[in-house]
Amino acid sequence: MSVTSDPVEQPAEQLVDPQEELLTDHSYDGIQEYDNPLPGWWTWLFIGSFFFSIFYVVYFHMGATGRTIQDQYDQQAARIFELRFAEIGELKLDEATIVQYMNDPKWLSVGKVIYKTNCVSCHGPEGGGLVGPNLTDDHWKNVRKIEDIATVIQDGAANGAMPAWRNRLSHVNQIVLSAAYVASLRGNGATGKSPEGDLIPPWPESKQ
Ligand code: HEC
Repeated sequence: MSVTSDPVEQPAEQLVDPQEELLTDHSYDGIQEYDNPLPGWWTWLFIGSFFFSIFYVVYFHMGATGRTIQDQYDQQAARIFELRFAEIGELKLDEATIVQYMNDPKWLSVGKVIYKTNCVSCHGPEGGGLVGPNLTDDHWKNVRKIEDIATVIQDGAANGAMPAWRNRLSHVNQIVLSAAYVASLRGNGATGKSPEGDLIPPWPESKQ
């Protein structure tokens, strides 16, 4: 702080920097701070965001369903799937259909997206298994025939340790295509959990 006038002529108490009265009473390692008021714009921003947060919670989380970003994303994803699925109609959960789509790279990529979005956390990025079993070897716990994969995805297994996806995947084709993708993982050589369950015969060949 600059004291411009000659200090000799000043009474002693006026030599004290007037701002020093504004210092807070604590000192950390000799560092002190002024007791400045918060700027008005900051205070109003704080008050404003407080009231906005109340509106936000009530409108987005307690109001009608479908308003959260997550819900909107789900709705749009479901709509996109339906548009794409218009081309192939509603698929059947049977052997012929799963084998057909297991050998169809275009639609397998849709199954892959579904797998990457929902299944990786338990079955690993390449299907090697984490919480859930390895989906790439020849041993299976709940699957004897290729169409059993779709049944397990739809209904879950082990009392929900493997969740049921019947209601979470909005379209039956998502079940069929993710089953086809899982079937295609068999033998991909991903490192992962050691085999669990029984040895089953290879998947049927494509008839095409
Ligand atoms: C919360 C973890 C979890 C998620 C997420 C999950 N699974 Fe599973 N999954 C499991 C567990 C655990 C098992 C083993 C159930 C058992 O012991 O019978 C399993 C079993 C399976 C099986 C049967 C394997 C076998 O050996 O019989 C298939 C197929 C399967 N999951 C596919 C999927 C697909 C496809 C998805 C995504 C749409 C998925 N899983 C998501 C945990 C999960």
